Amino acid sequence: MVDVEEFVEEAKAEISEELGDSTAIIALSGGVDSSTAAALAYEAVGEQLVPVYVDTGLMRKGETEEIEEVFGYMERLRVVDASERYLDKLEGVTDPEEKRHVIGEQFIREFETVAEEVDADYLVQGTIYPDRIESEGNIKSHHNVGGLPDVVDFDGLIEPLRDLYKDEVREVARHLGLEEVISERMPFPGPGLAVRVVGEVTEEKVRVAREATAIVEDELEEYDPWQAFAAVLGRATGVKGDNRVHGHVVAVRSVESRDGMTARAQELDWETLQRLQSRITGTVEDCSRVVYDVTHKPPATIEYE
Ligand code: XMP
Repeated sequence: MVDVEEFVEEAKAEISEELGDSTAIIALSGGVDSSTAAALAYEAVGEQLVPVYVDTGLMRKGETEEIEEVFGYMERLRVVDASERYLDKLEGVTDPEEKRHVIGEQFIREFETVAEEVDADYLVQGTIYPDRIESEGNIKSHHNVGGLPDVVDFDGLIEPLRDLYKDEVREVARHLGLEEVISERMPFPGPGLAVRVVGEVTEEKVRVAREATAIVEDELEEYDPWQAFAAVLGRATGVKGDNRVHGHVVAVRSVESRDGMTARAQELDWETLQRLQSRITGTVEDCSRVVYDVTHKPPATIEYE
């Protein structure tokens, strides 16, 4: 990107010109892309923007509260608690792409309800360049590309970040004064913790992924990973006191990347790895085994599903 300031001014002008005096709606996930797009659009059109945050129940620890705090300044912020509806819809779903589909569909339903309520004319999205490339290559469906505009009858789609890479989006976020917790935040997938639970998503497995991910983020902060998290792989035998238990197996993943299209597993020292396993097995209920994922992308993807 040539100049952040110039980019921001041009993007704001483009948004307000396109919107006129209509109402725009944006899905705010708390990720750096949608947060930056929302902050840009809010600077451009203020109360004409309705940011919608859907709590899918698949978010990281404390994420919903953080969103309410960081974006509370936007007068028309809507926070929708849809966690029970998501869990219901995900019951019995094991195929990764089917999971994404169910989550994407439910998201559309939730979003559509608010869009109709506020009578939104335009949709703003935080789509960035790599999203478009991966979607075009059909490597993986990204629910933040396409879908929404076709379902709700919007007059237009505004994608101010469409030509930017992730590090450029972070520059824009910093320029807009978005708090560090957002601008420096690791990417988090649209389907949330569901793609970090292998197989059927249950409240129990999501709890394990959430608790363990919070520990991983905390312990690995000093390694400055592109993404670091925990996934729930299945169950395996362990011992607790004198008893054999059949606890969850948690995989820790920590990768370096520029844009998520390729990635390298990070080299962690043994002490760090041991600290991770001891904190996770010691504090996450019903977890008896921790493994570290050493696979780069390719051949693996960053997420587990
Ligand atoms: P993968 O797992 O494909 O991830 O190597 C590459 C980057 O994309 C994120 N990711 C997603 N983001 N919807 C999203 O919005 C998705 O379905 C999705 N799947 C993966 C992942 O976290 C990583 O940053």
